[in-house]
Amino acid sequence: MYTGIQHLHSFLTYLVILGLALSIIAALVGHFSGKPFTDRDRKLALTGLIPAHLQWMVGLLLYFFSPMGFSSLSGQAMSNSLLRLYTVEHPVMMILAVVLITIGFARAKRLDDSKKQFLNIWVFYLIGLVFILSRIPWAAWP
Ligand code: HEM
Repeated sequence: MYTGIQHLHSFLTYLVILGLALSIIAALVGHFSGKPFTDRDRKLALTGLIPAHLQWMVGLLLYFFSPMGFSSLSGQAMSNSLLRLYTVEHPVMMILAVVLITIGFARAKRLDDSKKQFLNIWVFYLIGLVFILSRIPWAAWP
């Protein structure tokens, strides 16, 4: 069970990064070309949102199965940079990233101005992607 969830979490990371990169590029093109925000653009933004949502739920599950997750959370873990990354920094930054991505998508849905819709997508998604890339355990992935 643990290995299965770990592999799924590792694989989903590719989809998260690809989906966000695609959404950001499409929104940047839309923003600077001045074209209207259509349903196709909303669906493109979903390619960034959906894998990120799936990933944080799988991550939360993994947190309770992994020996480097909840079971390692202690005061002592805070003085070990690798354990601190897995038990605190990684989960917190990833959840913050997904919250930002969700805010960007929700704001774009509510707005009427196409330029602002594209802007909200690429700015929030880009900050989310930076948060994600900053706390991926690069020593273990890919
Ligand atoms: C967009 C969100 C996330 C991304 C892109 C992401 C990405 C990753 C990556 C690439 C790894 C290393 C996988 C490997 O060793 O092959 C990892 C490990 C881990 N992640 Fe995440 N993660 C995300 C969210 C979360 C969340 C929200 C939690 C917990 C609440 C979490 C908990 C963990 C744990 C405990 C591990 C260590 C697993 C182990 O090897 O035992 N992740 N994550």
